[in-house]
Amino acid sequence: MGPGGRGGSRAALSGGAGLRILGASLTYGGRFTVGDGDGRDGHPMVRVEGLRRSYGSGPAAVHALRGVSFEVARGELVAVKGRSGSGKTTLLNLVGGLDAPDGGRITVDGTDLADLGEEGLLELRRDRVGFVFQTFALVPILTAAENVGVPMRLRRAAPAEREERVRLLLSMVGLAEHAEQRPAELSGGQQQRVAIARALANRPALLLADEPTGQLDAETGRAMMELLRAVVRGEGVTALVATHDAALLDLADRVLELHDGVIVESAPAVTAAG
Ligand SMILES: Nc1ncnc2c1ncn2[C@@H]1O[C@H](COP(=O)(O)OP(=O)(O)O)[C@@H](O)[C@H]1O
Ligand SMILES: [Mg+2]
Repeated sequence: MGPGGRGGSRAALSGGAGLRILGASLTYGGRFTVGDGDGRDGHPMVRVEGLRRSYGSGPAAVHALRGVSFEVARGELVAVKGRSGSGKTTLLNLVGGLDAPDGGRITVDGTDLADLGEEGLLELRRDRVGFVFQTFALVPILTAAENVGVPMRLRRAAPAEREERVRLLLSMVGLAEHAEQRPAELSGGQQQRVAIARALANRPALLLADEPTGQLDAETGRAMMELLRAVVRGEGVTALVATHDAALLDLADRVLELHDGVIVESAPAVTAAG
């Protein structure tokens, strides 16, 4: 991978030409829309202010986040780095509405999560946020295509729409030929590509990925980050990606560093390949 590495072939997903990524032909026509906003309505995709989250209470309490504030603009890929235990997972779970903070505010796509009840949070997670986990979290008895289709079933999308989009997404991540295979019949890298396709199924505005390369070898991990980079650029989705792999940070637009529950550094990504 050359230095810089912005633009060029990584912008492969837009335009609908038969471009190649991860050795797979991408043939879908044109970009498809992601999310509700088009970036012209002024608010950032994510705004976090004074976020606090502790586990337990009293002297044994663990203060996982101790006042975290930042913004993610629409279309940005922001990496959250920090060693194990620094609060990355806690932060992503809060931003995605999987967990509630002890203090502070989270706004996603213009919605203050504190204003949402159970139902609203469920809809947020189903329709506006896509999650990618370190352990892929695919359903073992379902095929790759069925796994990608799950979020659309939850939304009760029409079967024809679902099937078309599943096909599109699988070819986008280079797995058109593997649609009928179950997770156990796929490599780790392929499983994570299925998970990325699934996360995009309902056209989320925001993609949250928690150490998506943590179980992959270096080369496959790099390819996964490049896929995320291409998805963010090509589809106009916004992404917040936790990683402790320094070699992947150059693919981010910006890097936030967490240390013991506080942001110690916010910097543009270094552009030299790692
Ligand atoms: N459910 C939990 N109960 C108690 N402590 C937790 C829980 N989840 C996380 N922690 C603690 O909170 C801190 C931050 O954890 P986490 O957000 O998982 O960090 P990271 O993802 O960066 O490894 C750690 O000290 C961890 O042990
Ligand atoms: Mg974690």
